[in-house]
Amino acid sequence: MALGMGLKSAATTAVLVFAATTSLAAGLSAADAIKARHDHFKDMGAAAKALGDQFKSGAPDAAIVKAQAAKLAATAATLPTWFPSGTGPESGVKTRALPVIWTDKAGFSAAAKTLAAETAKLNSLAAAGDIAAAGAQMQAVGGACGGCHKKFRGPEA
Ligand code: HEC
Repeated sequence: MALGMGLKSAATTAVLVFAATTSLAAGLSAADAIKARHDHFKDMGAAAKALGDQFKSGAPDAAIVKAQAAKLAATAATLPTWFPSGTGPESGVKTRALPVIWTDKAGFSAAAKTLAAETAKLNSLAAAGDIAAAGAQMQAVGGACGGCHKKFRGPEA
């Protein structure tokens, strides 16, 4: 049950990381943290797009799918650390992160865990060479992105 174990450990890691880093590290400004967060999301978006492009092509390149699925899963596992307290709109820095991220920590953590689990599953399928199943799994991954954005991301400024 390698797949089940992978999911479980990814979720556990996310919880531990979240608990350890909910405030700004010394010396890191809100602007730095928000810039880093945007860079992480750009990487995540690029990996998701690369995967989408492969599956849309109708002839996905297994090597690209494997590499991008691994990147997406690794990036998703660290998402909970990108939101230290003090990096919401109250910082005065331009951000679409809504205050509810910090007032509904359990809900946000659950949304992050869903993405970690769905991308871990995607990565397991891709690593096992089941490219068709990985393609089908993209639906759940996209749902995890959208589910969080709907509740925790504000409109484009
Ligand atoms: C747990 C919540 C959550 C999940 C899951 C999530 N996002 Fe986001 N995403 C956010 C929030 C909040 C922002 C706004 C961040 C900000 O402006 O500081 C954001 C912003 C972004 C941005 C814009 C970055 C920028 O430069 O402004 C992209 C692109 C993005 N997400 C892609 C994705 C993709 C692709 C996925 C799924 C693979 C995903 N996100 C999953 C919460 C999430």
